Amino acid sequence: MPESKGHVRIVEVGPRDGLQSISKIITLQDKIHYINLLTDSRLSEIEVTSFVSPKWVPQLADSKEVSISIQKESGIRYTALVPNKIGLENAIDSGYDSIALFTAASESFSMKNTHCTIEDSFKRFAGMAKLWGSLNVRGYISTVWHCPFEGKINAKSVISIIEKYIALGIQDISLGDTIGKATVDETEHLLTLLLSRWDSSLFSLHCHDTYNDASNNIKKAMEMGIRSFDSSAGGIGGCPYAPGASGNISTEKLMDICESSNLSTGINRDKLTQAGQFIQSILAKDIEHHAKN
Ligand code: HMG
Ligand code: MG
Repeated sequence: MPESKGHVRIVEVGPRDGLQSISKIITLQDKIHYINLLTDSRLSEIEVTSFVSPKWVPQLADSKEVSISIQKESGIRYTALVPNKIGLENAIDSGYDSIALFTAASESFSMKNTHCTIEDSFKRFAGMAKLWGSLNVRGYISTVWHCPFEGKINAKSVISIIEKYIALGIQDISLGDTIGKATVDETEHLLTLLLSRWDSSLFSLHCHDTYNDASNNIKKAMEMGIRSFDSSAGGIGGCPYAPGASGNISTEKLMDICESSNLSTGINRDKLTQAGQFIQSILAKDIEHHAKN
């Protein structure tokens, strides 16, 4: 085996991003089994669920039960997505020491997704900072390249959101290609701008693979020094408030890219495949994958 040229951080988002748009409610038992299989594969980070309004995302209404029932292994970071103070309180009550916030580079998407402007989402976050204290906090930015409602997004908006996250002390920022529309040139263009201001270690790429461009965009980002990527085992995923968004890049494909570049991931591929196959078999029983407006 050739010597590793470094390590890639993979954040597995399947249990949250992968499941949130599925209309048929998956049983608690199946969710727990799926997340335990992911744990067995030694992923270093798993985004387990979100603490959002159950009216908005009914699939994840059991977030507390899931969170307290899964087997947690030391050395694996388990994270919950939260939009506001209620979500943060519920995540803390459910035992999380790692959370992820989310906003968007597009006002229309922000309104559809969280019912507030970008500015108001940061007011919400500022009001939560005392409560999250020393927890690990990640910040997502959706629609950094394209928005399903506004089209192409200006990089200035992305830069301004990054600045706001940094002002809140957040040093882990995930750039979302929410509808998978970014091209390699667009990926390179935005990353060139961002990396002229900030270190590559600040960023992760969160690619949805709608048009099969995710692999090439990730390869370009790797070439430019990015070493952190979000993905879902089996490639499940999508945002219920982003019409046209399909699954995340699959963790399996991401591992292939890493292996072909001699970058290590620490993941057990056989176990990961088991987890991906398990959740796909559950979804295949009722693959009604709605994108609600
Ligand atoms: P709202 O309706 O504007 O909130 O929703 P509100 O403050 O007016 O409250 C309305 C009701 O919701 C109240 O209850 C609150 O208590 C309750 P009522 O008095 O009517 O009985 N409520 C909550 N309940 C549980 N958990 C909470 C919570 N907050 C309020 N956290 C809100 C605002 C943000 C809550 C709503 O818009 C929401 O839940 N949005 C979430 C949408 C979502 O989950 N989207 C998908 C995740 S983001 C994503 O997929 C993108 C990403 O993958 C990156 C990428 O791909 O780009 C991260
Ligand atoms: Mg997503």
